[in-house]
Amino acid sequence: MKKNAMKHEIPEMGLINSYAQINQLSEIKLNLGSGGRPLKGWINIDNYDYEEGDTSRSGSEYDIKMDIRQLDADDETIDAILMVHVVEHFVRWEFIDMLNMYHAKLKKGGQFILETPDLDKCIEWYLRGREAPQINTPLGPMNMGKTQFYGNQWSKLDYETHRYVWTLREMVDVLQGRGFEIAHANHEALFHQKGRDMFVVGVKS
Ligand SMILES: C[S@@+](CC[C@H](N)C(=O)[O-])C[C@H]1O[C@@H](n2cnc3c(N)ncnc32)[C@H](O)[C@@H]1O
Repeated sequence: MKKNAMKHEIPEMGLINSYAQINQLSEIKLNLGSGGRPLKGWINIDNYDYEEGDTSRSGSEYDIKMDIRQLDADDETIDAILMVHVVEHFVRWEFIDMLNMYHAKLKKGGQFILETPDLDKCIEWYLRGREAPQINTPLGPMNMGKTQFYGNQWSKLDYETHRYVWTLREMVDVLQGRGFEIAHANHEALFHQKGRDMFVVGVKS
């Protein structure tokens, strides 16, 4: 390319970065798979609009419509990534690919925050049978451990199916293997079921 052309070239920016710039955000915090739970102060991202028969989400409200398997953001520019009940919608290898990408997009010291069902706890709840919390579904009342094994099996919505449910131990191992330091790893879920769901915070070191 000629020298003059280079001089006037405007550097291309990821869609998420330009959204943050237009909205004058001092930090870029992403709530991926926001569904019916958009959060103030976060950029809420989802790829699926609410549709009839969607009985396991309370809506779909987002700022940016995007497939979170490929984030359109510049490397090392994101302050925090939050995924609440989203990870279990991807097969294991797919989420690991996503995690590698998220690691690249996060700034040094950036946080990856996760809430997702813990398979070990789901099994415990399942074995407690009717003693464990139940939820009403179109298939009838269901044990809230069992519901997490497969996700929504009544609506014909592919994105609501669960494809892999992690244990806390393996999630911590995978995060550490990708260069995250673990700041929290417990069952103090903030959004869904305390005791059943894991709450994990990894910091990019
Ligand atoms: C169980 S909902 C969780 C919604 C919300 N975070 C909450 O805790 O209530 C999972 C969300 O992930 C979204 N999702 C699934 N696959 C996605 C993808 N490839 N790209 C973007 N969003 C996706 C779905 O549309 C859905 O809103």
